[in-house]
Amino acid sequence: MGIQSYFSDWQSLEEAIKHCHKCPLYRSRKNPVPGEGNKNSYVMFVGEAPGATEDEMGRPFVGAAGRLLTMILESLGIKRESIYITNVVKCRPPGNREPKDEEVEACSIYLESQILLLKPKVIVTLGNVAGKKIFGMGSQQWGGVMKMRGKACKLSILNLTILAIPTLHPAAALYNPQLRTLLEEDIKLVKKITESIAQETLSLGDVQKSKSKTKTLLDYLK
Ligand code: URA
Ligand code: SF4
Repeated sequence: MGIQSYFSDWQSLEEAIKHCHKCPLYRSRKNPVPGEGNKNSYVMFVGEAPGATEDEMGRPFVGAAGRLLTMILESLGIKRESIYITNVVKCRPPGNREPKDEEVEACSIYLESQILLLKPKVIVTLGNVAGKKIFGMGSQQWGGVMKMRGKACKLSILNLTILAIPTLHPAAALYNPQLRTLLEEDIKLVKKITESIAQETLSLGDVQKSKSKTKTLLDYLK
């Protein structure tokens, strides 16, 4: 038996976020940003916190950084609507400061519930805050984004086996071509891994499977 989500469905989870006063960030937010995308996806992207545009629109990754992310995804043939995207905290920190540890902690129940409802096989963490949070949930050491990026790491989160793929925050890549190249490389890895998961799922029970030369998930694990 797996761990049960505190919320039985997405609607009650989103409703709770809308009315949440669990940390002081609710005071300055215009709109909470619960997350959006395909709720049947096995891939979840996790960012840090909503920025100004996200706060205005109530949607994740719709400002400049979000447009860059969406562009990179689409250039690799990953439709943004095919994945689920959310953030560690659901309300915008004033002036886009980093969320404080106690805000991350207060908001954790929502991210945990999203993971339990989605049951993703892959979580892509965008930036240091998301990486630290997801690796912390998997009781694994987080060594900073530049050290951790570009490889997959198998984590046990809430009794689920999840491949975490850390990468940079797209905001860091906006005006830095070198970092943008790294972000693109990491998203290419995400694509390869998700394709091999799809392949494995499709070929379950396939007698030819053992003869297949396609890379398996395990080939990507460090
Ligand atoms: N940065 C984030 O971390 N999340 C967003 O939704 C937008 C920008
Ligand atoms: Fe609630 Fe999270 Fe918003 Fe804080 S950031 S008020 S915990 S939804």
